[in-house]
Amino acid sequence: MIILGIETSCDETGVAVYDDAHGLLAHDVYSQIALHDEYGGVVPELASRDHVRRLLPLISAALSRANIDMHRLDAVAFTEGPGLAGALLVGASVASALAMGLGIPAIGIHHLEGHLLSPLLSAQPPAFPFIALLVSGGHTQLMRVAGVGDYTLLGETQDDAAGEAFDKTAKLLELPYPGGPALAELAERGRPGIFNFPRPMLTQLERSGNLNFSFSGLKTAVMLANRQCAMEGKLDEQTRADIALAFQDAVVDVLTQKTVAALRVAGLGTLVVAGGVGANRALRQSLDATGRRKGFRVHYPELALCTDNGAMIAFAAALRLRAGVAIQAATERRGFSVRPRWELTEAGDVRAMR
Ligand code: KG4
Ligand code: ZN
Repeated sequence: MIILGIETSCDETGVAVYDDAHGLLAHDVYSQIALHDEYGGVVPELASRDHVRRLLPLISAALSRANIDMHRLDAVAFTEGPGLAGALLVGASVASALAMGLGIPAIGIHHLEGHLLSPLLSAQPPAFPFIALLVSGGHTQLMRVAGVGDYTLLGETQDDAAGEAFDKTAKLLELPYPGGPALAELAERGRPGIFNFPRPMLTQLERSGNLNFSFSGLKTAVMLANRQCAMEGKLDEQTRADIALAFQDAVVDVLTQKTVAALRVAGLGTLVVAGGVGANRALRQSLDATGRRKGFRVHYPELALCTDNGAMIAFAAALRLRAGVAIQAATERRGFSVRPRWELTEAGDVRAMR
């Protein structure tokens, strides 16, 4: 079974060809960072127009690199949501037109399901059931994953997502977009212990068992520290690095402790980390070290598949087709739709328990 995967939910055009007998045959991501850089964030209309420009050439290139004639495709998978409406529409319309022309199913995939299952593409995939820590620009969630399409939400952010907190704090520190990697890099030069920011919703975690997150207060604490230093005339490069490190430490600490609590509550020993913030080195070090100490295994997608890409979309579709979950809906589909706002726990056959 050979699947073309298309991802256009935000500021990356991702295309991949996945063969469930031979693995990933080709994958390519075109990042729009340079396009949005001067605006300090993603401009939705520009994002859509750029997807229009990039998508078809990327598809042709991926098919030829995979040495696959498009008539050999068994399905076209695309990100149906969540994401920017206009950007999603580009992927959905191209995928649906192509599938209709070829007489094969077009399968709409939930973006977070793509992230969540992407570690299964690695050489040593985790076995179900596991806990997934999903940390992207729009989401921070802890899920119990029992199988494909069987997800139970254990906790999520009440306000900003972890990636969003990284991006907003980076902006405050006048770092270029995208903020997460830039802030992490600045934090490398920070001195530990100079600033100490709050760890929201961590107090009495053992007793409360509350697995939700809150990052907006942390962002405010950084803003106040920043302002105070500026007023005192000591907001130099070193101080900004010290603030970045203290911010990152607080986020990593909260994510680590909540994840440990989720593993304990669910009685599981396998953790999967997915989404853009999963590329953060400090987070990886913290989770790995805690895993060694507490006896759980941590799985990450390959670094290139941490951020948005088409491979995870093709792969999620392959797993759904293999599990017999998606095929009927996909073949019966007429026209196409996108879902800019879409909870993973609302995704078709996905079960929810709050
Ligand atoms: O999963 P993703 O590529 O896109 C969404 O689905 O949102 O995640 C993007 C988020 C952004 O907020 C970005 O700043 C953050 O992931 N990110 C990082 C790092 N790399 C990407 N945050 C912290 N450290 C990083 N190394
Ligand atoms: Zn993503």
